[in-house]
Amino acid sequence: MKYEKELNRRKTFAIISHPDAGKTTLTEKFLLFGGAIQTAGAVKSNKIKKHATSDFMEIERQRGISVATSVMTFEYKDTLINLLDTPGHKDFAEDTYRTLTAVDSVVLVIDSVNGVEDQTRRLMEVCRMRDTPVIVFINKMDRDGKNRFDLLEEIEGELKIQLHPMTWPINSGKDFKGVYNLHDKSLLLFTANTKATDDEDSVVIHDLNDSVLDEKVGDKDAAQLREDVELIDGVYGELETQKYLDGKVAPVFFGSAINNFGVKEMLDTFIRIAPVPRSRETTKRMIDVKEEKFSGFIFKIHANLDPKHRDRIAFLRVCSGRFERNKYYHHVRLDKEMRFSNPYSFLARSKDVIDDAYAGDVVGLFDTGNFKIGDTLTEGEDFYFTGIPSFSPEIFKELVNKDPMKTKQLEKGVNQLTDEGVAQLFTQFGGNKKIIGCVGELQFEVIQYRLLQEYGAACEFRPLPFYKACWLTSNDQKKLEDFLRFKQQNSAEDKDGHPVYLAQSEWFLNTEIQNNPDIQFHFTSEIHK
Ligand code: G4P
Repeated sequence: MKYEKELNRRKTFAIISHPDAGKTTLTEKFLLFGGAIQTAGAVKSNKIKKHATSDFMEIERQRGISVATSVMTFEYKDTLINLLDTPGHKDFAEDTYRTLTAVDSVVLVIDSVNGVEDQTRRLMEVCRMRDTPVIVFINKMDRDGKNRFDLLEEIEGELKIQLHPMTWPINSGKDFKGVYNLHDKSLLLFTANTKATDDEDSVVIHDLNDSVLDEKVGDKDAAQLREDVELIDGVYGELETQKYLDGKVAPVFFGSAINNFGVKEMLDTFIRIAPVPRSRETTKRMIDVKEEKFSGFIFKIHANLDPKHRDRIAFLRVCSGRFERNKYYHHVRLDKEMRFSNPYSFLARSKDVIDDAYAGDVVGLFDTGNFKIGDTLTEGEDFYFTGIPSFSPEIFKELVNKDPMKTKQLEKGVNQLTDEGVAQLFTQFGGNKKIIGCVGELQFEVIQYRLLQEYGAACEFRPLPFYKACWLTSNDQKKLEDFLRFKQQNSAEDKDGHPVYLAQSEWFLNTEIQNNPDIQFHFTSEIHK
């Protein structure tokens, strides 16, 4: 059946990393292998560089690039790969978390010199929540990095995932000689190279005691490799693919993205073991990915900052069936039938109007304000996909209206921007104070700028002393109401009317958790329960 064939050749994933670990470089090498681009340097980094934090023109320019690189579709050895890009700047982390709800697996890049960094930790937490299968690429082996065994131990300990080496490096830095492929039992010798070609210098070694190994890497390194491999084989054995698919074990590759070294090994393994689109849970029932009826959800909304072209693109992840151009679909939240005459797919860096799309694909839909994150489209059935949570913001500010004549515009603007997922809006109980929560300072600047430019509403922000938002639930409604009343200064509701506790510090939070055993404090909110 055509549909099943299409489904089984699709792999939708994201590359994630702490900024500067090599995500953009690796993305580019993947695209070169997939033939989607011909030359190195063609993929512009979409990261908003640290120095540009308050340069709006720069943000706009970068956002322009990031629309084009939001989804990159390419084919490699008959596999259709949808690579979803994630913003590099940490202030846009929430965007990244949401993109992770739309992928079936991830490749995590770790810098061999810096090891596990802040963003690595947090991104992995999100992956673990959903048991997303992870492949680890330890990058920059051409630099003097940490000891490889120490590095594996650090990653396992910090990211709380069991690792499984698939290749093993021979030294690092200027002594880096290459990697031994534990699966194929072949030796790949390091050459600095920026082309994506098949003719890599690899030597098949069926028996590690073969003297060809000593010839290729020298006696000392050959002896060390034999010792290492014996140890690794003893500890790890063969990779159990199911454990990887369950998100319990992460295969690890060593390499150097900039030199295009070790990348092909990973890509070949990726297309062999990475999951094809899977069935997904909804508020009503499990949606089997093989169902013929179309369903999908919006995981990202991208607004154009240019006031002359104030269009938005909503990114739809197809979860089942076949999406067709010009066919009417059911917008569950608005209870409205909608059709799309210009749905986009994202082949490499250009957008193309498409006629259809299958589960696993991402489609760009022109939006005039109908969508918010988490919205579901179906062929008529009412349900929402679950597992698309909001995470607690880290910075909270009170929104102050500077122009009472523009109150309505301000309200509309704030509502639309929070629908897009730029920030979260909380309303304090009692006082009706509007509180905006973001992951980074940059977003406040973006909001202020956009409210003025797009809605003509002037506002300013007053810092608030909160550090975390927790969503509250309880079986005892009275206790919850009493708590909210008693803690009025720290209580608010989110946009969907769910009660939230705003904690000043970890100490306060822990104290409240201890003192209120009948109330559950949640660190994420499902957008739709
Ligand atoms: P990111 O998207 O994760 O933020 O990282 P990006 O690929 O932009 O890489 C960050 C820096 O690390 C870049 O250098 C890049 O050239 C370098 N890099 C990537 N892979 C390797 C590798 O295998 N070995 C070494 N030694 N360096 C690597 P930059 O100087 O910040 O940028 P650029 O001027 O080279 O673009």
